[in-house]
Amino acid sequence: MKHFLDIHKTDAKALRGMIDAARAMKEARNGRPKGMPDDEQPLAGRMVALIFEKPSTRTRVSFDVGIRQMGGQTMVLSGREMQLGHGETIADTARVLSRYVDLIMIRTYEEQTLLEMAEYATVPVINGLTNRTHPCQIMADVMTFEEHRGPIQGRKAVWCGDGNNVCASWLHAAGQFGFDFTFSGPQTLDPEAEFLGFARKKGARIAVERDPAKAVAGADLVIADTWVSMHDSESSKERRHNQLRPYQVNDELMAHAKPDALFMHCLPAHRNDEVTSAVMDGPHSVVFDEAENRLHAQKAVVRWCLGL
Ligand code: CP
Ligand code: NVA
Repeated sequence: MKHFLDIHKTDAKALRGMIDAARAMKEARNGRPKGMPDDEQPLAGRMVALIFEKPSTRTRVSFDVGIRQMGGQTMVLSGREMQLGHGETIADTARVLSRYVDLIMIRTYEEQTLLEMAEYATVPVINGLTNRTHPCQIMADVMTFEEHRGPIQGRKAVWCGDGNNVCASWLHAAGQFGFDFTFSGPQTLDPEAEFLGFARKKGARIAVERDPAKAVAGADLVIADTWVSMHDSESSKERRHNQLRPYQVNDELMAHAKPDALFMHCLPAHRNDEVTSAVMDGPHSVVFDEAENRLHAQKAVVRWCLGL
């Protein structure tokens, strides 16, 4: 069973294959209308369940469109409206869904929910974000970097802000794709040691630098994300804002990076909190390419899971 649960759990060669396949599929569409099917229809006759226990714009729409372009069908399910949200176990849900659909994508809170779904499903399961990681996003981001700047291997990426789920998947990618990664944020919001440890064990150069200006020196890529994630409590908002304000990505900070550095944000962004509008809309920013590439990268992930 080929689940796509996390970047560090997926073979590095397979990850590279997915990025290359995604770029080829994007090229093959060559600007066609979004609703026009691909020439190849590998998902013809296949049904995919997309389960959301948290809000989503990009993940929901990009999976749905991508699967349809490949000839498959989708159903978008809200966790709240399923029996899952009313006491049915994850294991039973996984067993039942596996009788109806060929693949399950789930966005959820606890990582354990994803792992149990994968354990009991008899069809592939894809991680569409948990409190701990967001692997599909970083597949799209690696693809985006390489489209603009060539191989990511050996380049320097710098994360400014909260050491959250998106940051964790970046650390996994640093290990698997072999690039340098610097975390810059307050100590209380450091990424988990396990994520830093994985990347280091794989030989990636990983640094933690509290001073954001020093951190971004020589950066090929500067990354930000929201200061308050969907799983963070509303009551932590003010504290987080106070702690993270020095890590805002603005023109002054970008001036410390390489002149051709890219800026990425998985979106949704809170303009003028973690990033200024000037940077979001400025020459370094590739945020909407990242959003588009969710579509192409996930099509490659889905095909890999189904062996198609
Ligand atoms: N970046 C991302 O996953 O966006 P959504 O929350 O809109 O899916
Ligand atoms: N860190 C953010 C990412 C959203 C796509 C969150 O978990 O809310």
